[in-house]
Amino acid sequence: MTLAQAKARHAELSEELRRHDHAYYVLAQPTISDQEYDLLYHELLDLEKQFPVLVTPDSPSQRVSGEPLKEFKPVRHLKPMTSLDNTYSQEELREFVARVQRLLPRETLEWVVEPKIDGVAMNLRYEKGRFTCGATRGDGTTGDDITPNLRTIRSLPPGLRDGFPALLEVRGEVYLTRGGFAKLNAERKAAGLETFANARNAAAGSLKQLDPKIVAQRPLDLVLYGVGEIQGAATGPQTQQEMLEWLKALGFKTPEWTRHCETAEQLVTAIDELDKLRPEFPYETDGAVIKLNSFAQRERVGFTSKAPRWAIAYKYAAEQAETLLKEITVQVGRTGALTPVAELEPVFLAGSTISRATLHNQDYIRQKDIRIGDTVTIEKAGEVIPAVVGVVLTKRTGNEKAFRFPQTCPECGSKVSRAPGSGEADEGVVWRCVNPDCPAQVSGRIGHWCSRGAMDIEGGGEVLVRQLVTARVVHDVADLYALTLEQVAGLERMGQKSAQNFLEGVEASKHRELWRLIYGLGILHVGAGVAKALARCFPDLDALFAASEEQLTDCEDVGEVIAGSIVQWHRDESNCKLIDKLRRASLNFTSDLYKPNAPAGTLTGKVFVLTGTLPHLKREEAAAKIETAGGKVSSSVSKQTDYVVAGEEAGSKLEKAHRLKVRVISEAELLKLLGE
Ligand code: IVH
Repeated sequence: MTLAQAKARHAELSEELRRHDHAYYVLAQPTISDQEYDLLYHELLDLEKQFPVLVTPDSPSQRVSGEPLKEFKPVRHLKPMTSLDNTYSQEELREFVARVQRLLPRETLEWVVEPKIDGVAMNLRYEKGRFTCGATRGDGTTGDDITPNLRTIRSLPPGLRDGFPALLEVRGEVYLTRGGFAKLNAERKAAGLETFANARNAAAGSLKQLDPKIVAQRPLDLVLYGVGEIQGAATGPQTQQEMLEWLKALGFKTPEWTRHCETAEQLVTAIDELDKLRPEFPYETDGAVIKLNSFAQRERVGFTSKAPRWAIAYKYAAEQAETLLKEITVQVGRTGALTPVAELEPVFLAGSTISRATLHNQDYIRQKDIRIGDTVTIEKAGEVIPAVVGVVLTKRTGNEKAFRFPQTCPECGSKVSRAPGSGEADEGVVWRCVNPDCPAQVSGRIGHWCSRGAMDIEGGGEVLVRQLVTARVVHDVADLYALTLEQVAGLERMGQKSAQNFLEGVEASKHRELWRLIYGLGILHVGAGVAKALARCFPDLDALFAASEEQLTDCEDVGEVIAGSIVQWHRDESNCKLIDKLRRASLNFTSDLYKPNAPAGTLTGKVFVLTGTLPHLKREEAAAKIETAGGKVSSSVSKQTDYVVAGEEAGSKLEKAHRLKVRVISEAELLKLLGE
């Protein structure tokens, strides 16, 4: 066989296998037997053995391929992935409908109701009809590139059917089927491994695996319900219904149940219907998503800073269960807060087995008169930690024991206090251990430093951190950078290889972006968002700590409370010493978000819309520049838009900009605004 013949046959086989995959995994209507499928598949493998050039990334043989990755690379979504506003009540849903109607007076509104799938949000990019990149939602702008893991999902089409645009971002949810989840947990239990708390965690945990071979063993699946960027489409879909049809025609799996409604009453009926049907779905759902059907109307109502104004998630009431409260333990967190925890007789609730639930604080236990030995009601709502919500008084026997809240820290024996002045939202209610050297607090601070959202140190999980603190080799986060291989490998149940990996993770963290370090310090009120704002305002850590409260409040998103907290943190001598120790360990103190020519504030508060092809910058590069300078990038033109940056072939957005008299600028003018 010549190469040309092999190529032709390979293309034929690939196409045929993909057709069968689609019939089996997307439509659930297999067209051939397993044996027939295997025959075709082996013919393809044989061809690839003879002609290795035929092994392309999207060949059906490459669903599971490649070496394990070392880490996931960040990837920017071409259009941001926003979240949804939530409601639990019909009344709020009616208000939502009325609000949208006020924004679109006298217009007829049509709605689409879809299941809210409790999985992991995904963005998939297709270029010229081929799947090129898949990423998690991340912070909405940038996610983790998990393309090889996604390729293992059989219902994910590696290539699209006819009618695809040059570039397409599609959005949906990856989930583990209920059956798949039960099977996976049973296998893990049998193997002596920790089980997953619920299907969503199992799906998220599976996608985080660096080795696609492991991912391929997990029964993951995918449903699509949205699009992001579309380029080069003759006519794109104009409504949600058209879009779902289009996605289906392109080869994607879409929600098996949707409803079209025109009034709030119809929406309520549809939501009730969905509630009855959802136990039959292959995936867990936690609500209904209500979306305005027309894309043109969506453009006109726009977005808030977090979510679209044209959609809302209606969440079903949390499920409850009854179980025995066997014991109450007290946990000490990174801020020293003492949290009572109910140790429960394990019970199955909303898709997972619960054996612990929060009791919030001492007052809560008193008010609800919760006693050890009580039968209690527990509740779980979505991602919220399970909580004890009440006592089943009819089941009291008289043998229950009242709980005595500890008078000292259960971890270090120090005094506890709930005097006001901590600055925390729960001050006066929550008891706190006053000893900053309390091992639980130290572990909590170091755990936070290592966490994914902060310095992202691989292997720096709770157990290892606790061991390091107990062994007294680490007292603060800076001590991590002086650890030796012997010290780490010498810990119980720690292999040479894992110790090595952890130390490599520690070393790599020296070069992390400054905002991660700022966030990792765990300064009260300084979350990741504020840390980024600070890194935009100051060239380095020293400049940040040299700033007065007033200078700090000049930064966007930094108010007096935050500024005060930062200054106070740095007044503490032990914190100053910590900073010096980190400096000596050569950690990066320089901000890459800081732009001297475009100091934060230049574009602060300014809203940009990008349209058409820019001469030099890719759209995501332009967006990154604008955001770095404090501006916002929106996908639709409205009266709130300050600038429309227009390139070649700018279409309806440019027209709209002219109509609304929004200022239109070129790429060169944008660069000028940025001081470049
Ligand atoms: S639409 C701009 N539709 O829920 C609209 N989201 O709480 C963005 N989700 O991040 C989302 N099912 O991960 C949409 N049918 C559905 C959904 C859905 C589940 C998830 C999605 C989103 C989260 C928001």
